[in-house]
Amino acid sequence: MKITSAKFITTVAKASDLLNTQFKEFAFVGRSNAGKSSLINAFTNRSALAKTSSTPGKTKHINYFLINENFYITDLPGYGYHKAGKSEEERWVKLIDEYLLTSKQLSCVFVLMDIRHKPNILDKQMLTFLHYYNIPFMVLATKADKLSKSQRGVYASKLAQEVGLTLNNLIITSSALKLGLEKLGEKIEEQIGQDA
Ligand code: GTP
Ligand code: MG
Repeated sequence: MKITSAKFITTVAKASDLLNTQFKEFAFVGRSNAGKSSLINAFTNRSALAKTSSTPGKTKHINYFLINENFYITDLPGYGYHKAGKSEEERWVKLIDEYLLTSKQLSCVFVLMDIRHKPNILDKQMLTFLHYYNIPFMVLATKADKLSKSQRGVYASKLAQEVGLTLNNLIITSSALKLGLEKLGEKIEEQIGQDA
């Protein structure tokens, strides 16, 4: 997919401020530090569209980006960042759940998981939640550059198996190597139903 424009639209801190968008939305969720904001930057070919950090807990609100004047990408806070404090963390979880349940234009949720790590209870809960509410999703295995080429397939299969999915529901990605971005674009195109 050719990215012709990528604009930051707004940041939302509470459920009552969530946008009622006129275009389809694609959400990036996952554990804190999984690489959500970095992948949004890599995908849109913008170095600092979404704010990234080596310290977990960087994205604290929901950020909306309008891509190609045609669809939205939303960057969500990561779950499992306990240092934020219990009440802050609960607030994020509530905001994420509310977003996922009420966004009428939500077309697909990309669930990011570090390819090297075993899915934890929070990853599993997120997938169960998406299943239960019938929200289309796809797993993006991130940071594949941390593994050798031959290891990537092995780890990806293991990851898919651990969450009860097949490799058809997973894309191997790396923001550093710009890996998997074409497939991600294809998945989005499939949903918006036109060549972009
Ligand atoms: P929160 O906003 O805290 O939930 O984190 P996030 O999921 O948005 O992660 P972010 O994109 O901020 O990246 C976290 C860290 O992982 C940063 O230090 C990134 O440089 C690093 N990182 C992200 N993607 C990659 C990747 O593809 N390869 C490598 N090697 N590092 C990456
Ligand atoms: Mg982030």
